[in-house]
Amino acid sequence: MRRYHPGYDFRRAHSIAELAHMAQRRLPHFAWEYLAGGAEEELTLARNRQAFAEVSLLPRTLVPWETPNTRRMLLGREVPLPMAIAPTGYNGMLHRDADIQLAQAATARGLPFTLSTVSTNSLEQIVQAVPDVNLWFQLYSMSDPKVQEDLLHRAQAVGCSTLLVTSDAVLLGNREWDKRNFVRPRQLSLRNKVDVLGHPRWIRQALWPHGMPSMANLDRYLPADQRTASGAAHFIGEKMDKQLSWDFLARLRERWRGQLLLKGVLHPQDAERAVALGLDGIVVTNHGGRQLDGVPATLDCLPGIVDVAKGKLSILLDSGIRRGTDILKACALGADAVLLGRATLYGVAVGGQAGAGHALDLLSQELRLALTLLGQPDLNQLSVSRRAAAGTGAALTVS
Ligand code: FNR
Repeated sequence: MRRYHPGYDFRRAHSIAELAHMAQRRLPHFAWEYLAGGAEEELTLARNRQAFAEVSLLPRTLVPWETPNTRRMLLGREVPLPMAIAPTGYNGMLHRDADIQLAQAATARGLPFTLSTVSTNSLEQIVQAVPDVNLWFQLYSMSDPKVQEDLLHRAQAVGCSTLLVTSDAVLLGNREWDKRNFVRPRQLSLRNKVDVLGHPRWIRQALWPHGMPSMANLDRYLPADQRTASGAAHFIGEKMDKQLSWDFLARLRERWRGQLLLKGVLHPQDAERAVALGLDGIVVTNHGGRQLDGVPATLDCLPGIVDVAKGKLSILLDSGIRRGTDILKACALGADAVLLGRATLYGVAVGGQAGAGHALDLLSQELRLALTLLGQPDLNQLSVSRRAAAGTGAALTVS
């Protein structure tokens, strides 16, 4: 199919791919690579998409139409759609107050929003701007126990229902574009500075008038003269806990009274350990292909994890969700919900809150349409067969 050129108005984007296309034109080169890129050869980045393509949908026919049901229980609350916004750091580089905008877009649709430890709006700013947000907080464990405890205390104080501990990024993956684009942490190369000048709309929406945003959650732990993007990047590099272990998670299980999820599971035995620890959920993720290149697509890991953990905790999946049919396939294979990373970031990069909302609406419209055309209007009744149905040529078939 030839891709239609959607122009510059994000409301005219008919798919997440078209929003991505617009974001690529809107953003300077370094910001686009930060958003869309993966680690090393980007094998995992590509596998994430390929895995969805390899699952077939086998519709039943002559099923009278009824409004599709996409509601389900997620971590003790009913959600209208099986999705939430994933934690992503440094969103303010895409659009000023992007974290707030994402939280607004999600809340308007009854969906949870996850704030990253390395966000550019703080926990307190989010709840002030979006008081009814269903706020989840993603924790990068810190080696300084005082900082760690303060972050937990703040998350609790603002009413975070859910804590996600990210375990797949104690060191950053090998992202060669980052090394090329920055001469020092957050110090752009000359070539990139020149490129920035060719993107006045982005300068207006992200840089003007304060320059590159700092990491607002961490500002208070930094000396006043280091509350900058590069100061925070240095801080996080130094203070991230490289000894993150199951013992830490066991202690956190005692400490954190809300829902506790481990984000970074690909192996069924790790899912079993999460169950044994009494966690409320896991996120099956490869960090959107940004960490260890060569790991499998998350959709390919899901069946093995479902075999050992389904019904014992909530299973969320992310990495590569770009279509409503991807959500349908993930749920059919046993995910309770999906997290959206780049899909909503493309929206926020081109249209702020309304752009993020447009991305969410595209995905939910696609999901509802797919359920109808499949002849299975209830998301909770999907079935999957592991052997190819005759003539589908696929290893997995959803109906
Ligand atoms: C991320 N991700 C991430 N994860 C996390 O736990 N903390 C973080 O701060 C970030 N930051 C971040 C920045 C950017 C730009 C991206 C694209 C991703 C990973 C994120 O939570 C999620 O796992 C992936 O984005 C899912 O893959 P897709 O949906 O982007 O393909």
